[in-house]
Amino acid sequence: MALLEAEHVVMRFGGVVALDGASVDIAPGEVTGLIGPNGAGKTTLFNVVTGLLAPTSGTVRFDGADITRAAMAKRSQMGIARTFQKLEAFNTLSAFDNVRVAVEKNRRAKWKHRRVNDVAHEMLDKVGLGDVADVTVGTLPTGSARLVELARALACRPRVLLLDEPSSGLNEEETSSIGRMLLELVDDKGNDLAVLLVEHDMSFVMGVCARIHVLDFGQVIASGTALEVQADAAVRAAYLGGDEFRGAYAGVGQ
Ligand SMILES: Nc1ncnc2c1ncn2[C@@H]1O[C@H](COP(=O)(O)OP(=O)(O)OP(=O)(O)O)[C@@H](O)[C@H]1O
Ligand SMILES: [Mg+2]
Repeated sequence: MALLEAEHVVMRFGGVVALDGASVDIAPGEVTGLIGPNGAGKTTLFNVVTGLLAPTSGTVRFDGADITRAAMAKRSQMGIARTFQKLEAFNTLSAFDNVRVAVEKNRRAKWKHRRVNDVAHEMLDKVGLGDVADVTVGTLPTGSARLVELARALACRPRVLLLDEPSSGLNEEETSSIGRMLLELVDDKGNDLAVLLVEHDMSFVMGVCARIHVLDFGQVIASGTALEVQADAAVRAAYLGGDEFRGAYAGVGQ
């Protein structure tokens, strides 16, 4: 059962058609991939799903309800959280304070019976940053700053987590550690979480995603398992021969 569905979404910016009838669905308990060449419309789809952009046409459904025109705050309250392609954490605040602000914002709706500081520490521990709670985010390595963003997103107690290139700026080890973390988060039945992952790192995507949607020029050209999309002729053509996929299939979590 899909928890989040985007149906026939069109997004025009003047003459640019960023999304051209794109339909994707994501299910709880899984990491779903959203891949495609630069400019394919991945971030635009995130913006439509989170409410930053109102689509020209099409529908976004969450848990069966039409949320196409719902305000961003309402969607966040419903449990849709995201991280950004560019780092958005507060650089002058500590990792702990960054997360605490996010917990506080969601306190009434999500954490009524818990102390803010306890929840903030729990979120930091979840992403493995317990030891650097007091360090200013601006002085942390990129990998850790990205994890602070993940902890901030988890502070919203999401049911749908949208991650826009979380491995950007990370080394191989940090990337596989994020991959393991995502699989743990979706495997935990108590979280009942669906993750939508935008990524250019193919071995990362192929390793953690149960299903993958492939966008090209705003259209979904393939949807399926890692093996299915890698073998798809249209996908290989979109990636100019498919060199990206050479040796990409890692088989983790499949
Ligand atoms: N606010 C905007 N105004 C005008 N055009 C835009 C706007 N946002 C995105 N676009 C255009 O829409 C298309 C899709 O952009 P988008 O950022 O969604 O691609 P993407 O798949 O996320 O690419 P990347 O992999 O480089 O992040 C591009 O042609 C882009 O230039
Ligand atoms: Mg993008």
